[in-house]
Amino acid sequence: MHLRFSLAAVVVAVLCAGQLNAQTGAAKIAATPPMGWNSWNYFADRVDDKGVRAAADQLVATGMKDAGYVYVNIDDTWEGERDAQGVIHSNAKFPDMKALTDYVHSKGLKIGLYSGPGNKTCAGYPASLGHEEQDAKTYAEWGFDYLKYDLCSFIPDVMQKEPDHAKQMKIMIAAYDKMHKALVATGRPIVLSMCQYGWDSVWEWGPSVGGNLWRTTGDISPEWDRIAVIGFGQAGLEKYAGPGHWNDPDMLEVGNGKLTLAENRSHFSLWAILAAPLLAGNDLPNMKPEIKAILTNKDVIAIDQDALGKQGTRAYAEGEVEVWTRHLSGGALAICVINAGSDRYSTHPFHLNLAKLGLTGEQAGKDLWTGKAVKLTNEMPLELASHDVLLVRVEKPGMGK
Ligand code: GAL
Repeated sequence: MHLRFSLAAVVVAVLCAGQLNAQTGAAKIAATPPMGWNSWNYFADRVDDKGVRAAADQLVATGMKDAGYVYVNIDDTWEGERDAQGVIHSNAKFPDMKALTDYVHSKGLKIGLYSGPGNKTCAGYPASLGHEEQDAKTYAEWGFDYLKYDLCSFIPDVMQKEPDHAKQMKIMIAAYDKMHKALVATGRPIVLSMCQYGWDSVWEWGPSVGGNLWRTTGDISPEWDRIAVIGFGQAGLEKYAGPGHWNDPDMLEVGNGKLTLAENRSHFSLWAILAAPLLAGNDLPNMKPEIKAILTNKDVIAIDQDALGKQGTRAYAEGEVEVWTRHLSGGALAICVINAGSDRYSTHPFHLNLAKLGLTGEQAGKDLWTGKAVKLTNEMPLELASHDVLLVRVEKPGMGK
């Protein structure tokens, strides 16, 4: 009896230690939201070895690496054929993956790759179905540090063969669990980025299958309306994010399409409030200085990367003006006001209600886009142009005085 009890205790202790290791492991590889660059939003299927090396070079040359952008992520369209043993090879655009990862690592950066649980990726290239362990091993041998795993053809290939919707979801969850276990088995720390568009409230089960980040929505595009729908649609998901596991409202479009500077600033500010992964998706070798200034704003990045890891929340919205706050370490508070619509002009200032933020009295802070000291007072008029933002960090917010 006594022996059985001790054995049980040992088993429990070992299991708990395992659980703890898995958790601290997750927190260790994504203690703050991952930052870097991904090829998809700008280059899509035009990504190649040369472009990835150029992106790595530019992360260093522009100061983005110093600002925290570490991962250089190859998205879809790198995949070649499988050989007779089933081992995946890269296609002609990527002649030597090991040489490429060595190059990126030599810059002090990390490198990521893309696949999915189906037969094919979204762009129709070979994916990992039936080769999960083998692929994870190949990625680790090549030296990859990050995997974006995109559902895509797994939906028709596997899930839809099962008529029951709830069972389809279980099959999907098992597919992510399978790849997570395969990655762990390689012994190499590899960030698992889940891309299944938020299906079945992934934020509730993502951490249990080792997800370090999970897409909460369908694809972003470089248009303000899409960015606003996705960004403001994150309200309510804050409790699911934390060190090691983050909500991912998709990669950045800063510098892409026809976004105005105000829109780029607002997009970046909101993603920082959301503790979102910051994966730049623009053409780094041709980045304009004003875009670089946005992407490397250290104060805004510090909001995103705050050690507390507490995702921000919507404090209130009035018409199309959104007011969000994020609690930061040391008791500081970030306040983000975005004039999201096109109907309010700065001729009709918005009046900030501090009580709705739980604040009373004058709040001394820093405007993170002008770099200047500001004082926020109750009902103060804010002249925000359409799609522009005010982002303020208040070091010692006065609450309830
Ligand atoms: C989509 C995914 C995009 C990109 C693309 C590649 O499913 O959401 O971010 O990875 O596939 O084909």
